Amino acid sequence: MKESKKNALEVLSEQYVGLFDDHLRKLLEIRNGIPVRLAESMDYSLLAGGKRLRPALCLAAAERCGVAPEKALPMAVAIEFIHTASLIHDDLPCMDNDDLRRGMPTNHKVFGESLALIAGDALLIWAFGHALSHLPDMGIPYDRVARASALLAEASGPMGMCGGQTLDTDTASRRLEEGFVYSIAAAKTAALIRVSVVSGAILGDISDTDLRCYYDYGTHLGLAFQIVDDILDVTASRDELGKTPHKDEAQDKLTFVSAYGLERAKSLAIEESEEAMRALEELFPEGDLLMDLASFLAERTF
Ligand code: IPE
Ligand code: IPE
Ligand code: MG
Ligand code: MG
Ligand code: MG
Repeated sequence: MKESKKNALEVLSEQYVGLFDDHLRKLLEIRNGIPVRLAESMDYSLLAGGKRLRPALCLAAAERCGVAPEKALPMAVAIEFIHTASLIHDDLPCMDNDDLRRGMPTNHKVFGESLALIAGDALLIWAFGHALSHLPDMGIPYDRVARASALLAEASGPMGMCGGQTLDTDTASRRLEEGFVYSIAAAKTAALIRVSVVSGAILGDISDTDLRCYYDYGTHLGLAFQIVDDILDVTASRDELGKTPHKDEAQDKLTFVSAYGLERAKSLAIEESEEAMRALEELFPEGDLLMDLASFLAERTF
């Protein structure tokens, strides 16, 4: 029987996600004084599945800059901790009030709001402790560890994801200007996706010029990713998404679909993914999986 060709996300997963998931599972078995219910709450969301896009991007960028993916694992873990924390918090009743995430009831539905809040906080803080203590164990020089960690903090904090979540959820922060939805997506989503790529690259020996290519790639990939997330909210099913569809309109969110309409949003996603591919052209004149990934993600259906 003819095997159908794997898409770029499947290839990326094959190369990096098995390695990442094995490592994560082993790491979570060491509970060192974590109260049982807090460990259960964190494990629940971390192990619920998810595409693992961000850690895979980190490992892929590291490998392309001369660092074996195994050595970059603590950075990939830190990034997935922060991403998972952002999802736990994003789903809380005071934010998007969602019941379903990664195909399972949301963290607060199972553990209650108090533990969900703490699990998110704990993951955010653990992320930095983990990267800072374990990357040097892998032989990554301290100056690179510090630079990558500082950028991760910038991408996650008030100038990055937290800022973006403010623009997304706080109606008093909403501005009517054309393109404001780009400001939301750039901060809440693209900042973390970009730093996933950039932090992996920084662990290796990379020139500022080459780093700029990864930076631009990450920015445009992140924007494309959020545009498609907004599209899927109206076009995909509960099963495909593993989360509740039609949430954005119900909550009167400013999204690429509400701002530009579905068809225009689709072409904006393709424009961003083409920009992402262009950013890597100089580094990979023959093409690269990361470029194929940008093209695939613009048309993903899950
Ligand atoms: C969801 O991210 C949140 C957004 C930034 C749109 P993902 O779609 O990567 O979520 P998981 O990790 O696969 O669950
Ligand atoms: C989430 O955006 C961005 C985060 C930082 C978590 P959404 O609110 O659109 O993400 P989903 O659709 O709930 O995954
Ligand atoms: Mg949200
Ligand atoms: Mg949400
Ligand atoms: Mg969404």
